[in-house]
This record gives sequence, C-alpha cells and structure tokens, in this order.
Amino acid sequence: MCGIVAYLGSKQAAPILIKGLHRLEYRGYDSAGIALINDNNNLSIYKSKGKVSALEALIADKDTSGTVGIAHTRWATHGEPNDVNAHPHFSEHKNLALIHNGIIENYKTLKAELINRGYHFHSDTDTEVLIQLIQFMMDSHNVSLEEAVPLALQSVIGAYAIVVIDKNNPNVLIAARKGSPLIVGLGDDEFFLGSDATPIVEYTKEVIYIDEEQVVFLERGKDVRITDLSKVAVTPVVEQLALNLDAIEKGGFPHFMLKEIYEQPETLRISMHGRLNPELNQVKLSGIIDNRERFLNARRIIICACGTSWHAGLIGKYLIEELARIPVEVEYASEFRYRNPVIYPDDVVIAISQSGETADTLAAIKLAKEHGAFLFGICNVVGSSIPRETNSGCYTHAGPEIGVASTKAFTSQVSTLTLLALSLAQEKGTIPQERFAELIAELQRIPDKIEKILEHDEKISQIAKVFTYAHNFIYLGRAYNYPVALEGALKLKEISYIHAEGYPAAEMKHGPIALIDDELPVVAIATRKGRYEKVVSNIEEVKARKGRVISIVTEGDVDVKNISDWSFEIPDTDEIFVPLLSTIPLQLLAYHIAIAKGRDVDQPRNLAKSVTVE
Ligand code: G6P
Repeated sequence: MCGIVAYLGSKQAAPILIKGLHRLEYRGYDSAGIALINDNNNLSIYKSKGKVSALEALIADKDTSGTVGIAHTRWATHGEPNDVNAHPHFSEHKNLALIHNGIIENYKTLKAELINRGYHFHSDTDTEVLIQLIQFMMDSHNVSLEEAVPLALQSVIGAYAIVVIDKNNPNVLIAARKGSPLIVGLGDDEFFLGSDATPIVEYTKEVIYIDEEQVVFLERGKDVRITDLSKVAVTPVVEQLALNLDAIEKGGFPHFMLKEIYEQPETLRISMHGRLNPELNQVKLSGIIDNRERFLNARRIIICACGTSWHAGLIGKYLIEELARIPVEVEYASEFRYRNPVIYPDDVVIAISQSGETADTLAAIKLAKEHGAFLFGICNVVGSSIPRETNSGCYTHAGPEIGVASTKAFTSQVSTLTLLALSLAQEKGTIPQERFAELIAELQRIPDKIEKILEHDEKISQIAKVFTYAHNFIYLGRAYNYPVALEGALKLKEISYIHAEGYPAAEMKHGPIALIDDELPVVAIATRKGRYEKVVSNIEEVKARKGRVISIVTEGDVDVKNISDWSFEIPDTDEIFVPLLSTIPLQLLAYHIAIAKGRDVDQPRNLAKSVTVE
C-alpha cells in the first residue's frame, strides 16, 4: 500500500527520497511523487503515474535541489491512478504540500464545506481534503501550521499517516498518525520519516515509533517534539532498529521472492531458536508461559487474520485442536469485525499478521478487546501496530519480507503456531512425553528437509514452463494439506494472474469436478501422512476425466507418481509438520510459472504488501 518517506537535514533530500521510494516499492503502488523546497523557498511538486523510475525520468531535468522534502508511493483508493491523484498535494495557496497513507472517511462532507468556503480541488482523492483543511485552519483561525495540523485532524474521521511541509518554514516537517504507521529516524542533525523502516535503515538505527493520534514536530537543530491531538506533550521514546540493510536487498537473487523462498531453512531455524529445547524436552514461548492461566482457562481460541496469514491460521487450528485439545475458530478478520460475533471474556483471540498493520486484523482485535478477550499477536514486523495493541504475543522472526507474495513469513507463522500448539500441549499435558519428544526432535529436522526440497528447484522450473497455457488451476489437499492447497492456489493467482482454487480434495466431487477436462492442471498434495489413500482416490477421479495431475508426494512413493503426469518429492515427516514441507514446491511452482509468463513477481499488479485500508 501507500508508502511515505521524508527528509530534513543538511544533505540534498531528492536522492535520499528517491532511494527511499525504491525501498518502499515492495508495498505495492501505482504512482509516485515528491515535493521539495529549494534554497529560494520554492516548493515544487513532481508526480507521475506508474513506477518510481517514471518519476525519476520526469525529474531528471528539473530543479530538485533542497534539503527538505517529502515523497510518496500511492496505491489508489479514491480516484484512479494518474498524475493528478498522485501525492503530494498542494494547499490552496500552494505554500503547503502533504502526503498521506490511509483513508479519510468523512472527506465528502469536509470537501463540500471547503468548496463552499472557496477552496479549489484538483484531484479525486480523499487526501486533498486534509491539506485544504489544514490551510483553512491557518486562514480562518490565523494560526501557525504547528497549531493548524492538530486542529484540522480533530475534524477528521478515518485513518492517516501524514507529513506536511511549508515553503514559508523550510526548517520544519510536521507529521501525524492514526491507524497508519509512521516512524521517525534520528540521524546526525537530520531527521527521516517513513511508513516503515526500510527507507530509513541505511542512515540510522535510532528510531521513534509514533503512536496513535500523535503529532510529531521535527525542526532543524532542535529535539523531536511529540504531542497528542489536544497538544499535550508526549515524551518521545527512542528505540534501536533490529533491521539490517542486507535483509532488504536481493543478495544475488533475481527476485526478492526467490531469495525469500531460499531463506526458509534459516528463517525457520531462527523462529525456533531459543524456543525449542530437545535436551530438556521442552518448548518455551514466553508469551504462553507468562499468560499460562489465560490460555489454560480459555473457553476457546479465535484466530483472526487475512490472506496468507489466514491460511497459516487454519493450520494453527488443526495443530492446537490436535495437540492441545482447545477448540479453535478461524475467522477472516474483515468478516469478524462486521458481523457482531459472540466474544467471551475468557476467549483468547490470536491475530496473525506478517506486517502487523493489516487494517481489518487491527480492527478485529480492537473489537475483541472491547469484549474483554485476551489478545495475542503473531507478527513478523517488530514494533508494528498489532504487537502494540495486543496483551501478549510472539514474533515470527522471518526478517523483512519484500516480495508481495508471502513465502518465508507464511512458513515462520506455521512454525510459530506449531511451537504454540506444542507449548499449550506441554502445559496441559495433552500428549504423552514420548510423542512430545519425537515431535520436537522432528521439528528440528524440518529446516534441513526444506534444503533438500530446494535442490529440486531446476526440475520445478522446467515443468513450470508447460503451464503457461493454463487459464485455471485446481489445488487439492486433505487434512493439514488442505490449507496448503489454499495457499498454493493463492500464490499462483497472486503472481501469475492464472485463476486458481484450492479445495479440500473430497469436496471436488461437489462441484469443481465439472471443470475437469484434458487441459485443466490439478495439483494434488498426496503425501504419505495426510489422508494418503483418500487423496489417491481423488487423483484417480481426476485421471478418469483426463485431467492433468501434478502431485506432491513423499520420497520413494511410486503409486501416486505412476498415476500422475508430473510429480515432486518431499522428504517424509510427521503429519503435523507436512505443511512446512509441502508448501515449498508450490511456492517454487508459482514462482516459475509467473517467470515463464513474464510477470513482475515481486510487485504483482493491484496487490499491496501491507493492506492498511479496509
Ligand atoms: C496482503 C498481502 C498478503 C497478506 C495479507 C495479510 O494481501 O499481499 O500477502 O497475506 O495482506 O497481510 P498480513 O500482513 O496481515 O499478514
């Protein structure tokens, strides 16, 4: 979704801002823009539809001097992606410029009032209302920008992270947030602002996470000042970024997605590190240990998530119910928040989110909080909003995920949920010691087994070329492999734009079987542990109708191989860990089909990495 970067210091702002925009590209966007104030106090805005490279071409022969500026990547919500709707936006007198992430819900009312008062609008965006409202506050109340910003924001309903610059005061940047993240980076006599840490990490590790409904004032030569919307001062808390530059670069891979697929053995080792202790036959998750009673007395667990994280949640349900015998419901956060759900004070609500910023997931936990439920977050991005809103939680430690299609974040969510289920089972005594020992020993072997699967990459890439003709795909799996089928189909859809559906294999005969002909590729996840015989029958049903079967099988399997057109092997493991392995060939298959079709795998059309609007 939209990205923000801003700079105030002694260096030239434009190169820093353009590099920052490139760092933010992964979030998904359709236009980009920049505003700069030069040494003669001229405020210029340059904007362009399309990629950041189009903006670079636009500004190549323009005056881009200046040591203060703001820049933005826009993911259209109100108004089509074009040059005019791109941010930044000017105020009426063209002395102010603003960038915005989020959605202003009452923009129509505000816009009508401002038009009545003689303010002119040029774009179809909700954002332009914000800068005109700030201008109006300055004009009508005769106040400074510093006073006008919180005043204007008091009339705004919706979500925002904004940054404003003023050509009459090029020593100042003013920013604010509600519902959309914002981070301040502190350099040597310079300030950075970002919607996440990626445009900042290259310059400083000292950051301040701006909290809800706070306004931040950055002024050359002065300390950071923060207030709430009523202008009451808040003490800034400086934190150290735990992010490295290497982690947000491609490191020799052609795409971030492929790099992230290959990182999975390591990210899983990290997600288990210090939490799994085979010597003591223990799993230690401090978030569970510290809140043992809440979990043990939970009436049920409700998992709320979106997209890939929701698929991880389904696997979590199977794991927790099987190992710890606690009932689990898995909810799309967007449905949960709007359907008046029954939530008890003794429910535990687990929010799963890579970004920790997904608007619907955040809203779902806020709703659960109002009903007194205990909130637990499973997130990847450290310091993001969901970990800050929940009572407890644990990070997945996958490191920054830049490819829009989630890969390593998914498997680390699954491994974290596996640890959580094991930890609950340990606390409740629901599985015998020997089985527990077997499981944690096997879990430790999973990263090595993923390494073995990655060795088949070349074979998968060759087979993938066959499927560039396909318009539809079906993915089938049962038990733990059913959510894997959903995730495999989602990966293919996201990056190749081929329509794909995942089904519990037995459901095929209740509808999807009508689609099967000699062109339809059917991916069947038929591992030995995973209701093998049942899936084999489903494959036979596909073959009887001349469908083309690609199977994922356990090493050494010949029966399924013989009835499949193509097959990929994965090492044997316990049934509950199969998703951590069976997912990998499906990620590679989607990647290679998308590459064979010439798609932009890291930034697929229309998608955003972090969905900060509902
Ligand atoms: C977007 C991303 C998906 C992700 C979903 C939920 O749609 O493109 O990859 O699964 O949001 O995001 P979250 O950050 O909450 O896991």
